[in-house]
Amino acid sequence: MMSEITADGKLTLKKGSSSKILMKYMDPATEVLLHQTRAACDAIMVGANTIRIDNSYLTVRHVPGRSPIRVIPASMADIPLDSHVLSPDAPTIIAVTDRAPAERVAAIRAMNVQVVQAGTDHVHLPTLMRILRQEHGVKRLMIEGGPTLNWHMLHHRLVDEIRLIHLPFIVGGADTPSLVGGMHIESEDEMIRLVLKNHYLCGTNLVTEYDVIYPAGSGKDGPRSNP
Ligand SMILES: NC(=O)c1ccc[n+]([C@@H]2O[C@H](COP(=O)([O-])OP(=O)(O)OC[C@H]3O[C@@H](n4cnc5c(N)ncnc54)[C@H](OP(=O)(O)O)[C@@H]3O)[C@@H](O)[C@H]2O)c1
Repeated sequence: MMSEITADGKLTLKKGSSSKILMKYMDPATEVLLHQTRAACDAIMVGANTIRIDNSYLTVRHVPGRSPIRVIPASMADIPLDSHVLSPDAPTIIAVTDRAPAERVAAIRAMNVQVVQAGTDHVHLPTLMRILRQEHGVKRLMIEGGPTLNWHMLHHRLVDEIRLIHLPFIVGGADTPSLVGGMHIESEDEMIRLVLKNHYLCGTNLVTEYDVIYPAGSGKDGPRSNP
C-alpha cells in the first residue's frame, strides 16, 4: 500500500476532494518514486470512489517502464464510462458483484476492458486476489487507496507492506479521508502493528516504509501488496 499523507494523517483536503490537489505539493523526486513503484508492480488497485473523484490514470509516467494492470473494485460496475482508467493506455480489470447491472457490464466490456465477477453483495477481495494471482499472474499488487479500500484490504489481512509519503501540511477536518477508514476496532488486541523498516528523504519528502503485522488470528490469501 502506498499513500501520500499529511502530518495529520489525511489523504485529501476535505471529503469529496481529489488527492491530486495534495499531490501537486509532492517533490518531483517523490513523484518519480511513485511511478517507479507502479512500474515494479504487476497490478495497481484503487477503490471505485477514487476513480469517481480523482479520475486517476494509474499509468506509469515520468519513468521508463510498463504500466501495471489497473484493478478497480466497483460492486455495481458504477464508474463513469469516460473514466481515464478505462482508456487503452494500460490493461484494466473492473471487479464487480453479481448485482452489477448487465448493461453496465456490457458497456465496460465493449470498451475492451475486462470485467470479473467476485462476490455477491460487495466485491470479495480475497476472491479477487485469487483471480488476479491465478488468472492474471499478479504477484505484486500496489494499493493506492482510498481509505475505504485500504480498510477492507487490511481487514482481510491482504496488505504486507505500507509506504507513506509524508507531506508537511495539516488540513484538519473530522470527516476528511484519512489513511484508513472503515470500522473502528473494539480493543487494543485488534490493533495492526507496523514495523518501520526504512525511512529516507526523497527530494524534500520524508518516506517511511513498514511491514504489517496482524494480531494473532487467521492468515491471508492473495498476491503480496508491494508496497
Ligand atoms: N492521498 C492518497 O494517497 C489518496 C489515494 C487514493 C485516494 N485518495 C482519496 O480518497 C478518497 C476516496 O476514498 P473513499 O474511501 O471514499 O473510496 P475508495 O476507497 O477509493 O473506494 C471505495 C469504494 O470502492 C468500492 N468497492 C467495491 N468493493 C469493495 C470492497 N470490497 N472493499 C472496498 N471498496 C469496495 C465501493 O464502491 P461501490 O459501492 O461502487 O462498489 C466503495 O465505496 C478521494 O477523496 C481520493 O482523493 C487519496
